[in-house]
Amino acid sequence: MQLSRSCLIVALGLTTFTAAALAQTAPTKPVKRSVPPQLVALTPPMGWNSWNYFAGKVTDQDIRNAADEIVSSGMKDAGYIYVNIDDTWEGDRDADGVLHTNSKFPDMKALADYVHSKGLKLGIYSSPGPKTCAGFEASLGHEVQDAQLYASWGIDYLKYDLCSYIPEVMYKQAPNDAGARMKLMIGAYDKMHKALAATGRPMVFSLCQYGWDAVWEWGPSVGANLWRATDDIQPDWNSIYTLLNEQQGLAKYAGPGHWNDPDMLEVGNGRLSLAENRTHFSMWAMLAAPLLAGNDLPHMKPEIKAILTNRDVIAIDQDKLGREATHVYSDGEVDVWVRHLAGGATAVAVLNAGSDRTTNHPFHLDLARLGLHGAQKGKDLWTGKDIELTQNMPLEIPSHDILLVRIAQPK
Ligand code: GAL
Repeated sequence: MQLSRSCLIVALGLTTFTAAALAQTAPTKPVKRSVPPQLVALTPPMGWNSWNYFAGKVTDQDIRNAADEIVSSGMKDAGYIYVNIDDTWEGDRDADGVLHTNSKFPDMKALADYVHSKGLKLGIYSSPGPKTCAGFEASLGHEVQDAQLYASWGIDYLKYDLCSYIPEVMYKQAPNDAGARMKLMIGAYDKMHKALAATGRPMVFSLCQYGWDAVWEWGPSVGANLWRATDDIQPDWNSIYTLLNEQQGLAKYAGPGHWNDPDMLEVGNGRLSLAENRTHFSMWAMLAAPLLAGNDLPHMKPEIKAILTNRDVIAIDQDKLGREATHVYSDGEVDVWVRHLAGGATAVAVLNAGSDRTTNHPFHLDLARLGLHGAQKGKDLWTGKDIELTQNMPLEIPSHDILLVRIAQPK
């Protein structure tokens, strides 16, 4: 017989715990792997990726500029280490099947050396199909050769994006069998995982297949350090809020070395307001998401830099326990999420997805629903000031803004 979660709470006599509190204390899933894990991504990877700003226009010089700026802006000191080239670096294969870069990237080894000389790491991108999403040469049939090539260049991170593998392999080989198509996909990721492992070079392995077939259940078994759990992010509030809510229920699948990925950051891109940028960054930290900035670093505004380098918020993301936040409750358009942190601390996020909540009509925070009893001393991570949270306290939160509080000793 299977007990529902609420029956289980009653059966265990956990009357002072909410279901959400129980979910937070539940251990993350044990991970079965096809080859031993590499000790990378023990906390969610942090860095920058070229796609969200440069897309297909990215060049070697853009990557060097990004690396320079990560260092000079203080982002490196705040933890941003990976500089990731996304799609469109690929050229043609020669007669021996060796892949060459295109003219935008004249010398990948020299670029890797440059990035490494800054104390940073270099990431790259490919697909298990014949072509990448942008139509460039990909790894089908050349997985071992490509993994060796990446290792010889000194690559530290691979994003492997399904794309043309869907029509060219999955649908061609199993047009009428969804189960067989999924097996082919998992097999393709496992193949590259083994090829990377065989190089002996530690490389973060990032799966990009948009969350199909409950990737969080099988991703770790094919060596994934992170897996996209959603469709592509866009630099607008609706996209960010939709992707955030799609993470509900996935917390138990994340943990050191293997993370849910709600896609790269759009902080500083598009028409996001400052409040929206803050909320996006706060919630990606609550989700233990990879923090891969995607903005135009050399032209970054000071207020965007301040968001991306907020050490207190980054510390939530990078918390050693590696437990992702859970959504505890919503009241109207206000959502409350809680993340359980190392050393017994707790982070509480109160996000207003609706219109301004002001003094005439504040939001009242129900601490008891978070399993918290009595006044809680904490730090407001955006003002940097001490704050005391009390039962049903009125909160004024502007539209699309957030209150993010770390409580060191929750009661
Ligand atoms: C998409 C992917 C994006 C980007 C793009 C490159 O499939 O989700 O993040 O990598 O391909 O072509």
